[in-house]
Amino acid sequence: MKKVTDLQVKDAKVLVRVDFNVPLKDGVITDDNRMVAALPTINELLKKGAKVILLSHLGKIDFKKEPEDIAKAKKKANMEYLFPHLQELLPGVKVCFSPATRGEELKAAIEQLKSGEVLLIQNTRYEKGESKNAIDLAQEWASLVDAFVMDAFGSAHRAHASTYGVPEALKAAGKPVAIGFLVEKEVENLTRCVDVKDSDRPYVAILGGLKVSDKIKVIESLLQKCDKILIGGAMAFTFKKALGYEIGTSPVEEDRLEFAKRVYEEAAGKIVLPIDSVETDAFENYTIKRVVKDDITPGFEGMDIGPATAKLFTEQLAGAKMVFWNGPMGVFEQDAFALGTEAVCKAIAELPSCFSVIGGGDSASAAAKLGYKEKFAHVSTGGGASLEMIENDGHLPGIDIIRD
Ligand code: 3PG
Repeated sequence: MKKVTDLQVKDAKVLVRVDFNVPLKDGVITDDNRMVAALPTINELLKKGAKVILLSHLGKIDFKKEPEDIAKAKKKANMEYLFPHLQELLPGVKVCFSPATRGEELKAAIEQLKSGEVLLIQNTRYEKGESKNAIDLAQEWASLVDAFVMDAFGSAHRAHASTYGVPEALKAAGKPVAIGFLVEKEVENLTRCVDVKDSDRPYVAILGGLKVSDKIKVIESLLQKCDKILIGGAMAFTFKKALGYEIGTSPVEEDRLEFAKRVYEEAAGKIVLPIDSVETDAFENYTIKRVVKDDITPGFEGMDIGPATAKLFTEQLAGAKMVFWNGPMGVFEQDAFALGTEAVCKAIAELPSCFSVIGGGDSASAAAKLGYKEKFAHVSTGGGASLEMIENDGHLPGIDIIRD
């Protein structure tokens, strides 16, 4: 794969697919990590004297909905909310914004751009053809530029027009395509979790979060690669129920019980489940909160792993040379149920000489919230993308298309 450093792009129009899909609350960015993570590539291109054009999606827009709902979704996912902050992140650089996502207006905005300047384009998902990888859209975007850099690791599992169709069209036209620094770092670190070296063993994975169904393929893949898989969070209750435990009103995926039982049995001791939980009599406004062993009381809900499980998981982690963690151990957004996630986070962070990786999403937010983020060897910017990378043995469409 070509890298951004390999490109000769003085005075060239370079389209950079970034992942600026940042969380927004009433139009205000609540975590700018993904924008900051794209800066090294943007600055490298500016240093090379390129005209830098940034393309990203933001949120989701469902075109099957009524026109007024689509208009509302577009308003909520307006890339212009990010524009002032991007200007702050690039001091001394002229940064422009294009409200147009295609057509003459976009073409003119790109033509007016000078070397060393940046143009941020409106949300790619304003275009219906983006998620469908529509060929006309991809070809139009590709026709406006001289080169393409893929730096949107968080979106690399999507074969959309901006992540796949554009580099495909540019390659066909003989124009250069490359990966940026962020993608390079993500690929390097996550590939290590896929092609496991003996020196990285014992290799322990910790999975949590809500749904088993989201993680079926990753569990199957990790079982081939890891020495242990510790399962916490709400998804553990599907496993517990499958093994005959009482889980009260905790979330369960009835249609995954068979999978959970089969995979647990086949894993022959590799999968470790919680041995106690923090349960409450209601999800919100509870009056009883207590720790219970093994079974949840009928009518109660499991909200976090208990202290014995935190100790068990910490023991299982001892001596690990590589850890991959995805998914919180409980309802960590509420402080009362963050202890399990915090214990696991701390246990991984404090492992001596361990290559520790967080697979994006909620676990990355949890580590940041709890102040442990810097202690990890790698915190991925892509939740879905890092899981798919593991599922697909290191392959993602948005990265594979860049390969020569
Ligand atoms: C993410 O937030 O995981 C990426 O930006 C991809 O977003 P998507 O799931 O809406 O495609």
